This record gives sequence, C-alpha cells and structure tokens, in this order.
Amino acid sequence: MASPLFVLNGPNLNALGKREPGIYGGHTLADIEALCTAEGEKLGFAVDFRQSNHEGDLVDWIHEAGDTAVGIAINAGAYTHTSIALHDAIRAIKIPVVELHLSNVHAREEFRHKSMIAPAVKGVICGFGAHSYILALHALSSITK
Ligand code: DQA
Repeated sequence: MASPLFVLNGPNLNALGKREPGIYGGHTLADIEALCTAEGEKLGFAVDFRQSNHEGDLVDWIHEAGDTAVGIAINAGAYTHTSIALHDAIRAIKIPVVELHLSNVHAREEFRHKSMIAPAVKGVICGFGAHSYILALHALSSITK
C-alpha cells in the first residue's frame, strides 16, 4: 500500500514553463507532477500534488497533510520569504516537511536568501531545477521509512 505524500506548490508556480525559463527551466508544473507521480510510485508513495496562489490554501493543506499523509515536500514560492503562517502551520504538524526550490535562492537577490519556513522544516533542497522535487522525494523516503 503506497503511503500518501503531499507535494505542495505556492504562488506563480502554475506559470512554470513560460515564467522566466532561464531561471526556472522549461518544465511545466504538469510535467513536474508527472515526474513526481512516477518517482513516488518507485519509492512507494502516492503523491498528492497541489498548487495554489493563496497562502491560506497552503496552510489548510499543511494541516490536512498532518492528519492524512506521511510527509510533505513544499515549494512555497515567494511565500517562502514572507510567511509566518506557513512557518506556524509546519510547526503545528508532526510529519516531516522538506522545503525545495527550483532555483538556487542563495545565488539570487538578497530578499530570497531568507526563508521563513526553513527553521520549521527537516531540510532544504534548492538549485537543481525540476530535479529538486525528485531529491525532495528521496529525502522524504529516507526519513519516513
Ligand atoms: C522559488 C524561488 C522563490 O524565491 C520564488 O519566489 C519562486 C520560486 C523556486 O522554486 O526557485 O516563486 O521557490
């Protein structure tokens, strides 16, 4: 029986493919969902892949995952750098959370160097494009089994 795993995506990630491809790559979010679903199957996860441009949706989904899933991989987009609500939601649940980013946020503008959620998560992966998602699934696999 595959373990449920949430992969959560924040604002503007629905525009992947056409959004700054030099930074984020050419994959659409649907491409990344397909990669995650396939890799999840190999690792024994049933991936529940979601995206929202609204902070409260992400908070609700973190709570939901805390009750129903074994872990979360989250690319919170720009909310990474601003959201105390996401930090608090992650702290409120017991399952492991891995923060991920397509780009290397530390090699970009200074306002991207600070993550509000990093102190609340198990670990952070960034800079590997769509492969950051796969690495996050492997990280979750190694700490949930
Ligand atoms: C991002 C990095 C964030 O700084 C940015 O706001 C995003 C995408 C990434 O995946 O590289 O929306 O999370």
